[in-house]
Amino acid sequence: MENIKINIDKAFSFISKSDYENFLSQTNEKISQLENKTGKGNDFLGWVNLPTTITEHEITEIEKTAEYLKSKVDLVVIVGIGGSYLGSKAVIDALSDSFTNLKTKKEYPHVIFAGQNISEDYHYELIELLNDKSYGVIVISKSGTTTEPALSFRILKEHIEHKYGKSEAKNRIIAITDKSKGALRELADKEGYKTFVIPDDVGGRYSVLTPVGLLPIAVAGFSIRQLINGAKKMENLSGSALTSNENICSQYASIRNTLLKSGKTTEILVSYTPKLQNISEWWKQLYGESEGKENKGIFPASVNFTCDLHSMGQYIQEGMRNIFETVISVKSPKYKFQIPKEEIDLDKLNFLAGRRIDDVNKMAELGTMLAHVDGGVPNIKIELPELNEYYLGQLLYFFEKACGISGYILGINPFDQPGVEAYKKNMFALLGKPGFENETRELKAKID
Ligand code: PA5
Repeated sequence: MENIKINIDKAFSFISKSDYENFLSQTNEKISQLENKTGKGNDFLGWVNLPTTITEHEITEIEKTAEYLKSKVDLVVIVGIGGSYLGSKAVIDALSDSFTNLKTKKEYPHVIFAGQNISEDYHYELIELLNDKSYGVIVISKSGTTTEPALSFRILKEHIEHKYGKSEAKNRIIAITDKSKGALRELADKEGYKTFVIPDDVGGRYSVLTPVGLLPIAVAGFSIRQLINGAKKMENLSGSALTSNENICSQYASIRNTLLKSGKTTEILVSYTPKLQNISEWWKQLYGESEGKENKGIFPASVNFTCDLHSMGQYIQEGMRNIFETVISVKSPKYKFQIPKEEIDLDKLNFLAGRRIDDVNKMAELGTMLAHVDGGVPNIKIELPELNEYYLGQLLYFFEKACGISGYILGINPFDQPGVEAYKKNMFALLGKPGFENETRELKAKID
């Protein structure tokens, strides 16, 4: 089995090598802090050893529940926001057929998402869809009190109970939450839902390898064992016993901090298949919420090429030179597809006839990387041998571990998110939530 690889050669001409080596020399100490739980946010480091500590019993329970749902429903609504849905959506989309929702024959239930927005139209259309479907719900919230999923679940609970009756509804609802506290835990215990626990020491955006990510991924029909095996491999490849030069997590954390020091304040994650678009969304949350604090941190952005070369490509080539790119490259596609020959070569593409579409994609990737580097945009390349559960497991753990190291290099706590509270306070005050009277008065004075 191969492993995912990193290539940072195309970043070196933009930085001071000694700055890079200085950051790299700090990484083993940062990894030890993660492993020994001695750094900032050390009560949220349960994710570090998740791949090697998850038990056979835990995996089997998740698989059994997924099989149960498969036997019972055609569609599962996953309710959650932020770290409670981005990881599973990323993996499911990366592994699914691009047109899965339009292909009628499907062995596993369709998986759709709610609770990640407060759009009235979205909820109306969701309920319209569910009227005609046999469905179940997996509701996920660590705190059990987050407004968006709580609101969606309130709507879905009413619908599912009306559609199937209260006692059958409870067989179709699974809750993933804290082991003892929060409104969702209380509700699940009161209603008798099957539950899975999110460990106390694992924060939302690091929870994809807990039931939060694993149950939806298993329900969608993908191998959580392979995903965990991949993550386990990366856990073993990124420990403090290794030299930092061999450790791709250390290399990535060091090069991005070196680039930041040289003025590159925005990192764009680039992919060349639409299947990876939601890996980018997951990555943006992981790095944005972990590093963006104390007026520090690289701004994480993403593009999907070649599509976005026709929109964002211009800016990347010639706009402000404060950006660098991290390209996720998939070495071998799953299928083979050749370009056909035309009798009359009107589009002048017959020179490509007989070649694979992926040859064109790979040359677009190489050509873009060379052009962007020439244009002043450093490039990092992360290569996956294939897009499957095993390599995605490696990739997820790689980004998590590198994020922890990188956050510690920055000197912040990568495992909290104090800034997320500000909008909630204003929203509750504006909605007139009891207990927020002072904030309501202060806000009204600002807007009147
Ligand atoms: O990373 C985090 O902790 C957050 O993004 C949470 O996942 C998100 O706010 C949802 O929280 P909860 O699962 O408590 O509803």
